[in-house]
Amino acid sequence: MSKQFDVIVIGGGPGGYIAAIRAAQLGFNVACIDEWKNAKGGPALGGTCTNVGCIPSKALLQSSEHYEQAGHHFADHGIEVKGLSLDVAKMVGRKDTVVKQNNDGIAYLFKKNKVTFFHGRASFAAAKDGLYDIKVAGAAEEVISGKHVIVATGSNARVLPGTPFDEELVLSNDGALRMGAVPKKLGLIGSGVIGLEMGSVWRRLGAEVTVLEGLPTFLGAVDQQIAKEAHKAFVKQGLKIELGVKVGEIKTGKNSVSVAYVDAKGQAQTLDVDKLIVSIGRVANTVGLATETVGLALDERGAIVVDGDCKTNLPNVWAVGDVVRGPMLAHKAEEEGVAVAERIAGQHGHVNFNTIPWVIYTNPEIAWVGQTEEQLKAAGRAYRAGTFPFLANGRARALGDTTGMVKMLADAATDEILGVHIVGPMASELIAECVVAMEFRASSEDIARICHAHPSLSEATKEAALAVDKRTLNF
Ligand code: FAD
Ligand code: NAI
Repeated sequence: MSKQFDVIVIGGGPGGYIAAIRAAQLGFNVACIDEWKNAKGGPALGGTCTNVGCIPSKALLQSSEHYEQAGHHFADHGIEVKGLSLDVAKMVGRKDTVVKQNNDGIAYLFKKNKVTFFHGRASFAAAKDGLYDIKVAGAAEEVISGKHVIVATGSNARVLPGTPFDEELVLSNDGALRMGAVPKKLGLIGSGVIGLEMGSVWRRLGAEVTVLEGLPTFLGAVDQQIAKEAHKAFVKQGLKIELGVKVGEIKTGKNSVSVAYVDAKGQAQTLDVDKLIVSIGRVANTVGLATETVGLALDERGAIVVDGDCKTNLPNVWAVGDVVRGPMLAHKAEEEGVAVAERIAGQHGHVNFNTIPWVIYTNPEIAWVGQTEEQLKAAGRAYRAGTFPFLANGRARALGDTTGMVKMLADAATDEILGVHIVGPMASELIAECVVAMEFRASSEDIARICHAHPSLSEATKEAALAVDKRTLNF
């Protein structure tokens, strides 16, 4: 007789582990299966996000920013640093410690919530009598069965055709986060979120960074006024960004990579670098799940087909996070995980896709929620826009970080906030107020009339709201 559970969650990333905890809180007997291995072959809960994504990238972004500040900006504050040096191994080691703290934290939460954890690869074995049999191939092999299955198997880095990742010279996000030394010349293909975050880390640490982007527009999905401001800042920092290129043959040598490409003017070019990071998006991961055994439907890109409620084509089989449609973000995966657990319990779990924030953790940070000016124009929606530059914000001046602005877009007739776009210091934190405002369907006038602490960066949000009505007080 196999072990039986109310809910089996496949994948222990933010979608899966949060779904498992919420289902356990709701009184279900829950198992979570995850195959990720740490350096010693043991489990490493948290998925891409914890092991090779959100957490380690933010650790390195923080460390490299400290180095940049010490090397280039402390002097502005009258602080002289002599003999500044860099210990990459220590920096990467600190990042690994941060990752392990998060791995261990999730294992603790599983114990606390009585989620049974299985370390190994899960695959569908059979569906019978209202139960799904799931094979777990770990140190040993066993089959467990469950009434409900939540698939949260995440995504993998997209491979550039003909150029597989070797993680030595051609790196995915995995290799990009564990280089042992700063490459003299670093190339990146794709100026998306990973390209900009990883490019920033290694540029701050001293690499000469060139980013090759296929599209003619920089950060095409971002409000273009914000994207232009960010582009200006990155170029000033020394990031070389070539837009509108067509990448051709990529040759790897013993210690170098050569990228042939055609630039935006149609000229053939070659980029010779010591390491190349390929960050051209991610693909849903269903490898080894044996979806065909039970007839779980996938779309043409290999993602699991779900409806708005994360229901698949099979009864009681759900899917959340990167393995389904929608933005590939940890917090989106978590929200879906919670909503599915609540739906299984007969509740009305809900995810508001209109208010999922995005953050790019560069310096300046870029953050937004809701619609861009370009989207509103395309939809023919009448809107009013208000912007406020950090240059006119007292706290930003005191911090010595006045790049960027807050931009608010509100409906012309009702004044409901339709989008907020920020480029500048602590945009990642400032956006939370705007998400709350949009969840409550606030107007720009609401934000404009709320008392914001002085001096704080959040006053820029209030002033942007005032700017919608053309009545800024400090600009
Ligand atoms: P994952 O986190 O990918 O987890 C899936 C888990 O399932 C993995 O542990 C995998 O081993 C396991 N698994 C897969 N198949 C099986 C199987 N058959 N059996 C057992 N286990 C299996 N998002 C943000 O919101 N903020 C950020 O700052 C951010 N930074 C990022 C930085 C980088 C470099 C990268 C690559 C991504 C980043 N993301 C960020 C995206 C974020 O990591 C993903 O959106 C998030 O991890 C998706 O969660 P998930 O649970 O769907 O999948
Ligand atoms: P991305 O989709 O953000 O960017 C990929 C870029 O590569 C695009 O600009 C695209 O035009 C370009 N591109 C695609 N094919 C190309 C080619 N052949 N030649 C040149 N350019 C090409 O994907 P990225 O950066 O790989 O990140 C994957 C996902 O991971 C993100 O979309 C995001 O969902 C998630 N992520 C989130 C982070 C965050 O929230 N801060 C940080 C890092 C990743």
